[in-house]
Amino acid sequence: MKILVTGGLGYIGSHTVVALQQAGFEVLIVDNMSNSSIDVLEGIVKITGVSPQFKYLDLRDKNEVHQYFKDHKDIDGIIHFAASKAVGESVENPLLYYENNLNTLVYLLQECNQHHIQNLIFSSSCTVYGEPDSLPITESAPVKEANSPYGNTKQISEEIIFDTTKISDLTAIALRYFNPIGAHESAEIGELPLGVPQNLVPFITQTAIGLREQLSVFGNDYPTEDGSCIRDYIHVMDLAEAHVVALQRLLEKNNLTAFEVFNVGTGKGSSVFEVIQAFEKVSGTSLNYKVVDRRPGDVNAVYADTAKANKELGWKAQRDLEEALRSAWKWEQEVRNNKI
Ligand code: NAD
Ligand code: WQD
Repeated sequence: MKILVTGGLGYIGSHTVVALQQAGFEVLIVDNMSNSSIDVLEGIVKITGVSPQFKYLDLRDKNEVHQYFKDHKDIDGIIHFAASKAVGESVENPLLYYENNLNTLVYLLQECNQHHIQNLIFSSSCTVYGEPDSLPITESAPVKEANSPYGNTKQISEEIIFDTTKISDLTAIALRYFNPIGAHESAEIGELPLGVPQNLVPFITQTAIGLREQLSVFGNDYPTEDGSCIRDYIHVMDLAEAHVVALQRLLEKNNLTAFEVFNVGTGKGSSVFEVIQAFEKVSGTSLNYKVVDRRPGDVNAVYADTAKANKELGWKAQRDLEEALRSAWKWEQEVRNNKI
């Protein structure tokens, strides 16, 4: 089976390529390297012994996308990761986000229709739930008004895909990721943010390695037990494996409806202070941090109800927070010592 992975050089994409290859799929990657590097291919080959077919492709170029599908008529399924993902940047430059996250999806779906590609997995996000009314969050929780253009692109993307499944033979699964962290256990691939990290775990590891002076904890006055925000941090390899089982569900036609949505999280919430403590434990370091004001737009607490994914996909996260943080720390050390 040939699977096209868009954004396959990126953080989640590269780990999913590893999981796909290890499950026996033949993988084709397209990426424009706007947030990744060609070196990632080497890491994938070191882990799996297999080189995926790679083509530089900017999915915003409709003609090039069309040509790509003309040249590759035997694609069995697509996992669509390629998108821009920085919430703050999307507020500054919404049109960039609408173009990169929505136009690209439309072009891909047009090719699916034309070439009768029936299987699509889409990267959605827990951000579609906003501040939830109750916890843990089930898939039937309402999609709240998006608080950023980025979040809006995920909501609109789900609608675009749903509408397309109604008029074609496409079947699709949107995976709503909670907070992916960590790296492949080999430390051959991992998360490599450009510039100052926006997310908690890369900021922690970069502080511990000495690249950043101090972590700012955004608020200790939230209505949670220790006053810091709660999130559902999921190991990126658990997330990668969820893509493989979701894809198999479509290929084996086990899906119940043409468009399905699944939460992909651990089901367990951890506060910022708990993440810091767990990191200090697994790394044997003491982290320099201070509490500062809240970050605008942060919600109090978010964690997944994973019952639907457990039951329907037969998938459950296998790795805990400490294992994820250990892998993130190993990766950070590898990057600073050997990769840069
Ligand atoms: P990433 O930036 O590491 O990976 C995205 C990849 O897509 C990059 O390699 C980038 O170069 C490529 N890309 C972007 N625009 C492209 C275009 N026009 N044409 C071709 N390639 C393009 O991000 P990630 O963390 O791996 O996220 C993957 C997907 O998961 C995204 O859709 C993101 O919105 C979604 N997601 C991420 C998170 C998270 O916290 N990382 C959470 C929820 C959802
Ligand atoms: C986690 C917690 C911060 C940095 C984001 C996107 C979301 C999804 C996942 C794509 C929060 C706190 C963080 C720091 C801190 N992405 N924090 N100091 O905001 O839950 O989710 O990534 O779909 O859409 O918004 O993740 O890692 O930024 O923050 O105290 O320097 O860590 O306040 O409580 P977030 P995050």
